Amino acid sequence: MIKVDISNIWGLVSLPRLLAMEKEVFEAHRILTEGSGAGSKYLGWLNLPKKTVTGEIEKIQRTALKIREESEICVVVGIGGSCLGSQAVIELLQGEYRNIGKGRGDPMILFAGNNLSSRRWNDLCGLLENKDVSVIAVSKSGTTTEPAIALRNLRGVLEAKYGKDGANRRIYAVTDPVRGALRKMAEENGWETFVIPANVGGRFSVLTAVGLLPMAVAGIDILQVLQGAAEAKEAYDLRSFENPVWLYAAARNLLYRSGKSIEIISGFEPDFGAFSTWWQHLFSESEGKEGKGIVPVTASMPAQLHTLGQMIQEGGRHFFETVVSFENAGAEVRVAPEAGNPDGLEYLAGKSLDFVDSCARQGMVEAHMDGGVPVVCVECGALSQRSVGELIFFLELSCGISAYILGVNPFNQPGVERYKRNMYALLGKPGYER
Ligand code: PA5
Repeated sequence: MIKVDISNIWGLVSLPRLLAMEKEVFEAHRILTEGSGAGSKYLGWLNLPKKTVTGEIEKIQRTALKIREESEICVVVGIGGSCLGSQAVIELLQGEYRNIGKGRGDPMILFAGNNLSSRRWNDLCGLLENKDVSVIAVSKSGTTTEPAIALRNLRGVLEAKYGKDGANRRIYAVTDPVRGALRKMAEENGWETFVIPANVGGRFSVLTAVGLLPMAVAGIDILQVLQGAAEAKEAYDLRSFENPVWLYAAARNLLYRSGKSIEIISGFEPDFGAFSTWWQHLFSESEGKEGKGIVPVTASMPAQLHTLGQMIQEGGRHFFETVVSFENAGAEVRVAPEAGNPDGLEYLAGKSLDFVDSCARQGMVEAHMDGGVPVVCVECGALSQRSVGELIFFLELSCGISAYILGVNPFNQPGVERYKRNMYALLGKPGYER
């Protein structure tokens, strides 16, 4: 079980205040699981964790194998919830250097459709030259402009390589079961399709084909991820403060009520960057409504102790910090000895990097507490496919409960439409004239 340690928030929040929240948390958990809260038609994510293989999982595994055999590069096209989950899991499990040396049988996974940069497009085209490529297009609505443009241009690249029919055999669509332009295009062109269930919103879709197909193409055992999530679903059904989900959801709401409106998510694993962006997206799009919500900010530590550190230590006191850590799963690394001790580090020679890392973490937590920053610690155990599945479900459940405590609908995102309307008007999209 993930451990949530809130002993470092007691300066600001008292135990009686936490215990007084019991009814509120219970109620938020109840309306979430019973489906009687706002946005309850989007609760399909609660049933995505699985312990056994389903037809859908087999189809994903089969297609992933085909993509792996046929491709040197697989481009995943999507934005927001349609790409962040797969990016998060692949990077966390396989690391920043995962694409180096990859090729047919174990292709590079690249992401597109989440930007409108000509430079990035040209760089991508450079990488695709003389390579065998497959494309996974992900869009629930099937109409989001950024990924739709990327798909349109990637089709051109594939058609130039393989002809129209050959290109159609290398494009896979993950989209709504019936609606949207992507569904229509997939059916017209014979692309293999996967469904995003209508009752699962984008940022809660990582355990559908949205996340699972790219993960499987990357060589991740998706059943392990799903089983980790299924175990979490059972473990975190507990209705008491023994449940780390309750502790996390209650602590962040209490801190918010005490004036802490920013949450710094500090990851102590350098490959946690994409995952913390997924975490940020999950909470910010679910909670930031009606003038309310905690702003999640991501930080990779210890690197960002040298960028944000000063601000966290002595800047405005309107934030709290959530420190996320994993036990090291790799072979132990020790600090090398050096004759003459030129850098003064000989006192560390032979000590493990894990030891140094844990001292940096502990030192940071103590310094931030001394500086008046409440710190919540989330300890995730050893990093594995299963523990990542567990963390996904832990955060999704925490997010749903936390948003209900806050009093907002976690499952809509009306604000995101606003920029789209302005952009469409500026682009001259018919029907959106100013
Ligand atoms: O969480 C969400 O719903 C959003 O972030 C969407 O995933 C994002 O806007 C992409 O939408 P779509 O999948 O419809 O292209």
